[in-house]
Amino acid sequence: MNIHPISGSIGAVVTNIDLKNPISDRLTEDLRNALDQYLLLTLPDQHLDATQHLKLCEVFGSPIVNPYGPGQPPHPELTHIIKEKDDGAGVFGGGWHTDLSFLEEPPSGSILCAIEVPPYGGDTLFSNQQMAWETLPDPLKAMLDDRKIVHVGKPYGIKWAPPLEEQSMKGSTLRNDPNADRERFHPAILRHPKTQRPGLYLNPTYSLRLDGMSEAESRPILDSIMQHATLPEFCCRISWSAGMVAVWDNFSTQHYAVNDYFGFRREMRRASFSGYSIQDYISSRPQDAS
Ligand code: SIN
Repeated sequence: MNIHPISGSIGAVVTNIDLKNPISDRLTEDLRNALDQYLLLTLPDQHLDATQHLKLCEVFGSPIVNPYGPGQPPHPELTHIIKEKDDGAGVFGGGWHTDLSFLEEPPSGSILCAIEVPPYGGDTLFSNQQMAWETLPDPLKAMLDDRKIVHVGKPYGIKWAPPLEEQSMKGSTLRNDPNADRERFHPAILRHPKTQRPGLYLNPTYSLRLDGMSEAESRPILDSIMQHATLPEFCCRISWSAGMVAVWDNFSTQHYAVNDYFGFRREMRRASFSGYSIQDYISSRPQDAS
């Protein structure tokens, strides 16, 4: 397998690999190490079916069922992200976020397979949150050190849910669940269990406020941190082709699906996995480095 970085901050393209073949222990280790290092891997021309998609997940962890976007049997772990050509609403994932950060146990990564892509547009942006933390001004670092951030599942609950007509993938994601409005507290800084690199863990889609502060008090601080967290210097932008696969580290990145392809259909298939747990990140210490 060959690996080439795709930007100075995040992501690598992996070639000379066919994920339809059985994945050896050696390849498993190489893929895991590559993800730990680059946080985002793209693998063109793979054309995986549902079973192969889930097999790839097992390289990194166990596939989970997205409680708000479960797939159809027999593969409830696979969420189909579809925007039809005449769908004028927003797009699923069309804001900076990390997947499902409002869950008690958020997934450690996700794998997206491109099934049908528009002739242009429909890219996805990724931002390296380790770099964002390293370069955060010291006074903001001080605000976050040992601080928890409150996350809620805004699109899926009652309190913050957008009107149905503005919601993407109407009917295929669940909403009005009071449990999604429940506040979940996660550390603002998570340290990668393998590389020990600390990274920011907050995002504008699900992060509501800083622990110990009201929403109003938190807003300007969160806005300024989030603006920093997605500076172009920490980002890459990937253009999809049918059959392409992307794998990302969900604790050390944010991503954003660009909604710029009205008049064209786009279909993706996503699985999220639990590999490292959030507790692995919380208890990771520099001396654990191997
Ligand atoms: C997502 O947020 O997982 C979807 C990204 C995309 O469709 O590009």
